[in-house]
Amino acid sequence: MKSTIHVATKQAYDVIVGQDLLDEVGQDIIKICPTASKAFVISDSNVASLYLDKIIASLRNSNLETAVYVFEAGEESKNSDTYIAILQAMASNFLTRTDVVVSLGGGVCSDMAGFAAATFLRGIDVIHVSTSLLGQVDASIGGKTGIDLPNGKNLVGAFWQPKLVVIDTNTLETLPREQIIEGMAEVIKYALIMDAVLYDLLKNTNLDEIITNPQLRYEMVRQCVLDKTDVVVSDEFDNGRRQILNFGHTIGHVLEKMSDFKLSHGRAVAKGMSIVLNASRKEGLCDAATNDNGIDLIKAYELSVEDDTSSELLAQGAMSDKKKRGGTVSLVVVSSIGEAKIVKKSIDELEAFLEARKEC
Ligand code: GLY
Repeated sequence: MKSTIHVATKQAYDVIVGQDLLDEVGQDIIKICPTASKAFVISDSNVASLYLDKIIASLRNSNLETAVYVFEAGEESKNSDTYIAILQAMASNFLTRTDVVVSLGGGVCSDMAGFAAATFLRGIDVIHVSTSLLGQVDASIGGKTGIDLPNGKNLVGAFWQPKLVVIDTNTLETLPREQIIEGMAEVIKYALIMDAVLYDLLKNTNLDEIITNPQLRYEMVRQCVLDKTDVVVSDEFDNGRRQILNFGHTIGHVLEKMSDFKLSHGRAVAKGMSIVLNASRKEGLCDAATNDNGIDLIKAYELSVEDDTSSELLAQGAMSDKKKRGGTVSLVVVSSIGEAKIVKKSIDELEAFLEARKEC
């Protein structure tokens, strides 16, 4: 099982989705970056202990010199200190503009490695080898890179499309169940905003089957890659349609921040999606069946929809999110399963909208 999905952005690239792909990474890189002599691998402490040796062997087999930077696993590492340390390590290893950066890990890794690649020597090539569900279905595709500031997530970054993305769905076998659950929030997001077929697939299976069935896992990830590619190609720089990918995120980011990032991204997005679904029903933006089906799917994948956060605090938080434009927030709502639209809300309108969810 292996397929190649072409992402026709300005700098076009392929996403290879399959199983047992890690041994081929060196060959794949040499094909697309034939002048590279060195690969600078960036990974986190968890993923490095599992897959770094394999990747290094593959790169060396393709006659690439290697250098490595491993950071402590976790969102807390996605900060300016780690970013600067990575740049310094790149400089100390005399990386040139014809060399390549390889991110080996999940979304934190591809975001930070992508940003380091976008900015080092004004930009060098980056290849993402994605090993988490969240990374495979979302973060590794589409060129959004960045780091967090104490003020909020992803506040500094750049659009920097990779030269190649390698998604080996077998790497999900070593992922803790909790991280699969968190990644499922993004999978459910695609089902609700744009993919009724994926919705049916998710509805007719369950978490344990996804964890244990390699074929199903591959098909699910591949479908999400196709969905993300479709959106990114239609709006590379996030000025219009791409914003539908923010479903659940505007409120989710506020919940994440309010919890001091103790609530994971996936779990926060799940709560954000359910809050918006409930509020949408009350405001007539979706019918009761869409609301119920969306909430049931979120719960079926062991994601909590419980929340008692003040609507005022949520609305205030959303207004300081980077998704705000001018005095309004663009909120993504699901009008029916597989269909999303963007509605603009002022802070007062948003608070009233969110407050209505409590009547659900
Ligand atoms: N993760 C949302 C996007 O790539 O636009």
